[in-house]
Amino acid sequence: MSYVAQRQRAHEDPEGFWMEEASKLPWHTPPTRALSETEDGRWQWFAGGRLNTSWLALDAHVEAGRGDQAALIYDSPVTETVRRYTYRQLRDEVARCAGALRGLGVAQGDRVILYMPMIPEAAIAMLACARLGAVHSVVFGGFAPHELAVRIDDARPVALITATCGIEIKKIIPYLPLVEHALELAEHPPQQVVVVDRPQAEGQALTGVQQHNWAALMAEATPADAVPVDATHPLYVLYTSGTTGQPKGVLREHGGHAVALRYSMESLYGVAPGETYWAASDVGWVVGHSYIVYAPLIHGCATIMYEGKPIKTPDASAFWRVIAEHSVSVFFTAPTAFRAIRKVDPKGSMMAGHDISCLRTLFLAGERLDPPTQIWLEDLLGIPVVDHWWQTETGWPIVANPMGLDPQPVKPGSSGPPVPGYQVQVVDNGGIPLKPGETGHIVVKLPLPPGCLNTLYNDLDRFKEAYLETFPGYYQTADGGYIDEDGYVFIMGRTDDNINVAGHRLSTGEMEEIIGGHPAVAETAVVGIHDELKGQIPVGFVVLKDGVDQDPAELEAELVALIREEIGPIACFKTAYVAARLPKTRSGKILRKTMRRIIDGAEVPIPATIDDPAILDEIRILVGRA
Ligand code: COA
Ligand code: AMP
Repeated sequence: MSYVAQRQRAHEDPEGFWMEEASKLPWHTPPTRALSETEDGRWQWFAGGRLNTSWLALDAHVEAGRGDQAALIYDSPVTETVRRYTYRQLRDEVARCAGALRGLGVAQGDRVILYMPMIPEAAIAMLACARLGAVHSVVFGGFAPHELAVRIDDARPVALITATCGIEIKKIIPYLPLVEHALELAEHPPQQVVVVDRPQAEGQALTGVQQHNWAALMAEATPADAVPVDATHPLYVLYTSGTTGQPKGVLREHGGHAVALRYSMESLYGVAPGETYWAASDVGWVVGHSYIVYAPLIHGCATIMYEGKPIKTPDASAFWRVIAEHSVSVFFTAPTAFRAIRKVDPKGSMMAGHDISCLRTLFLAGERLDPPTQIWLEDLLGIPVVDHWWQTETGWPIVANPMGLDPQPVKPGSSGPPVPGYQVQVVDNGGIPLKPGETGHIVVKLPLPPGCLNTLYNDLDRFKEAYLETFPGYYQTADGGYIDEDGYVFIMGRTDDNINVAGHRLSTGEMEEIIGGHPAVAETAVVGIHDELKGQIPVGFVVLKDGVDQDPAELEAELVALIREEIGPIACFKTAYVAARLPKTRSGKILRKTMRRIIDGAEVPIPATIDDPAILDEIRILVGRA
């Protein structure tokens, strides 16, 4: 069926469309209907169906004869390791890990936090939790103990799985001191901690918890079978930045997720079972959940866990080597990664010696794909370079060129047309639909398709308030942009206090809360400014309390350290200006967008509501844009 026909069918007959997609998976008990309502009035998908995602991703393929095919390839230039797991080997490891977790008391519905580097044990632990019907919550390794503690307290896990270290290029990051600190900060620390011993770092004894060695547990464990669960049973919670320091726990369910991901592999990514699909991201982000672990395995592909960077591990040829060495058919990463490669190797000469003729399509997401990077890649690779747009909340693309159906013409600057199942619209502040080309809030008509969130973990009220109440009947994406005459969607950036730094979503609101806690600071604003490499980086402005006379450079260093300590190095917070005053509206709202435009050197229209326009010149002088 063509893209247009699928889109129309999903729109007019979502029940029939999604039941047909669901029937392509091996269920334990197939659902009898696609869409229904929960007791508390939310939409839900495939209620009544029973399945297990870990079984779908592993056992089903072994039973279907894929047991000896590569399932997971661990490629780690930082440890000079390449290790392959077949579907059978991975299934056996996961079953043993599930048995080990069960032995620690992990049961269906229990939460397990993973704080892991990009090693196979991370995927094994995720799939092992899924196998038991336990709910994993992966916390990105670049987050500081405070962030880990906040997530622990929200999820209240029975166990935490970690490793002795992560490796950042050549730097060894010992994880256990970070875990120890998080356990001290948390009010509800787990009682059990499992540690993968890595040769690069010695372990340490954690206090106040039962500590287990991964290898020892695995050696003694009795393999556990997959537990069939309801389609609506939670698979994982993944925390994403909100507008405050309290992240949002996006809850994903087994059934809709599996159906949507399989569909996306076939129809959007255009990849076939048996092929190698590589998403260069991290299991700590949604891309890692969906397209390193679950989708490729559900679809019977080989997936790659890459523990390295686009550059410096050892150089800018790293991606080309991995693509050639593992015969990658479809590759997905963030534009930042290629901006980093392009900066070092503008002519792409480091591709030499790597036969990447296996590569059919390159997908990019996580941040806007800037046309210069897109054009550079198209010229260099001579294959389709596809931007696509999605969020942690949706778990799979909202807008994408459907490369597995009939690929649509590419428009630089646009992420493409809406994916079948999503009815995307642009509305003004009052929720009135806008005309093609007019910029406003991008919203998606409810119900969202399978795979997307339908609540936040333990916080239905916040779910409704954050996503559903501003534009009744629609999901508020918190991205702004427009749709053109041909139905192509152009994403122009977040409309809330989130920014995208190297494809990582971070909350400037949270940074403001942290900076505002410094004893010298009376008032603060953090804005995301343009960065050639990382797309955006945060920059802070602070006004000192009366009577405080601290050296600006010293204060900046303290604030940089504070953000690093509270959020983590991944925040990339490096600059804080001390201002006499901040520009505000007459009602006292800080004009963050105006400040951002000043630093970016963009044209700055004077807001009609500004209280004192003279402050804009003060800011210009402060940031060197006078
Ligand atoms: N654990 C611990 N620390 C981590 C980390 C992790 N998993 N990931 C990043 N960090 C640290 C880095 O070491 C760095 O610390 P530093 O300030 O002490 O140097 C900091 O966080 C910022 O990291 P990063 O954003 O990776 O910046 P970089 O300058 O080291 O590298 C790029 C630049 C472009 C190579 C890198 O940003 C990159 O690979 N980007 C692609 C991102 C991507 O794939 N995103 C996918 C999301 S879909
Ligand atoms: P995350 O939830 O971390 O995946 O971040 C989602 C956010 O990243 C979106 O809301 C967008 O702001 C941004 N984003 C993701 N993909 C794209 C894209 N292709 N173009 C523009 N912005 C994107």
